Amino acid sequence: MVMVSSRLLFFLFLIFVLVYQATTQPSFIYYFCSDNTGKYTSKSKYKANLDHVLASISSNTGTDNGFGTDSHGQEPDKAYGIGLCRGDVKADVCRSCLNDSRTVLTQLCPNQMEAIGWYDNCSLRFSNRSMFGVVESAPNSFMWNPRNVSDVKGYGVVLKNLLSGMISDAASGVSLKFATRTSVAPDKSKLYVLAQCTPDLSEQDCRDCLNLIYAQIPLFGLGQAGGRAYTPNCNFRFETYPFFDLTSVATPSPPSQPVSPESPPPIKGRIILIYPISMKP
Ligand SMILES: *[C@@H]1O[C@H](CO)[C@@H](O)[C@H](O)[C@H]1NC(C)=O
Ligand SMILES: *[C@@H]1O[C@H](CO)[C@@H](O)[C@H](O)[C@H]1NC(C)=O
Ligand SMILES: *[C@@H]1O[C@H](CO)[C@@H](O)[C@H](O)[C@H]1NC(C)=O
Ligand SMILES: *[C@@H]1O[C@H](CO)[C@@H](O)[C@H](O)[C@H]1NC(C)=O
Repeated sequence: MVMVSSRLLFFLFLIFVLVYQATTQPSFIYYFCSDNTGKYTSKSKYKANLDHVLASISSNTGTDNGFGTDSHGQEPDKAYGIGLCRGDVKADVCRSCLNDSRTVLTQLCPNQMEAIGWYDNCSLRFSNRSMFGVVESAPNSFMWNPRNVSDVKGYGVVLKNLLSGMISDAASGVSLKFATRTSVAPDKSKLYVLAQCTPDLSEQDCRDCLNLIYAQIPLFGLGQAGGRAYTPNCNFRFETYPFFDLTSVATPSPPSQPVSPESPPPIKGRIILIYPISMKP
């Protein structure tokens, strides 16, 4: 009797530890495990190479542009990884985000050769193929804030103007392809907008990547008080509250009146297009 209950207690304790460990890292905004690019086993060479790559990216990225790539091993077991932090996050936040990503992504996609996960602060991607310098549109995810703005048309015009202006800023960056802007819509709502590409893309590829998101705005963001778009090589986000480091805003200058931040609303209404979309909108 005593024996049984202590075993039961131990078992419950184990479950607690496992659940606790699984919940210490925040969950991704969106992630994707590729099911059609093969599986690996826990004893495979690929797994050892992948662990090496992910450990290296999560400990070495963040010092200059928040972009880290690594590859390890010999074909056909060679593993490749790419980590990208949001352009304004500090090096220590970047590394801790990539470290969380490494743990969570390998838990969620435990044997897929290829996967990607997105947080606010960073994204992490791995595969058994080189992905460096190649612009890809899938997997992707577009989501919006369900709150409507009052002046849909005016707000939409400001939003599209902001993004089209930022595409050049982000694309022309060299080691960092990152742009943020703030503006005020005709109904006086504030807009905070961010766009970023992985810096391994050419200027034209970054432009194509962000133009693709631009073309989707009527589907996911027009009239909404916030939205996000994630693709493997570029991302875009807009909100009516500040969500990035305002000192990173280059042009035009931030609002002179201090803005009292609204609390971040839940993200809803996710459109997930897992098929590739044409890179030439
Ligand atoms: C990746 O792994 C899959 C499944 O094992 C294999 O079919 C594919 O050829 C590999 N890709 C490369 C570039 O080695
Ligand atoms: C990285 O994550 C692991 C597993 O969650 C944790 O044990 C380790 O302390 C983390 N390392 C850093 C530098 O944050
Ligand atoms: C992202 O980084 C900020 C600091 O820049 C931090 O406060 C926040 O908790 C991070 N987000 C997550 C989900 O870890
Ligand atoms: C926003 O507007 C759309 C279309 O006019 C409507 O269907 C939806 O219910 C509105 N959402 C909210 C949260 O008011």
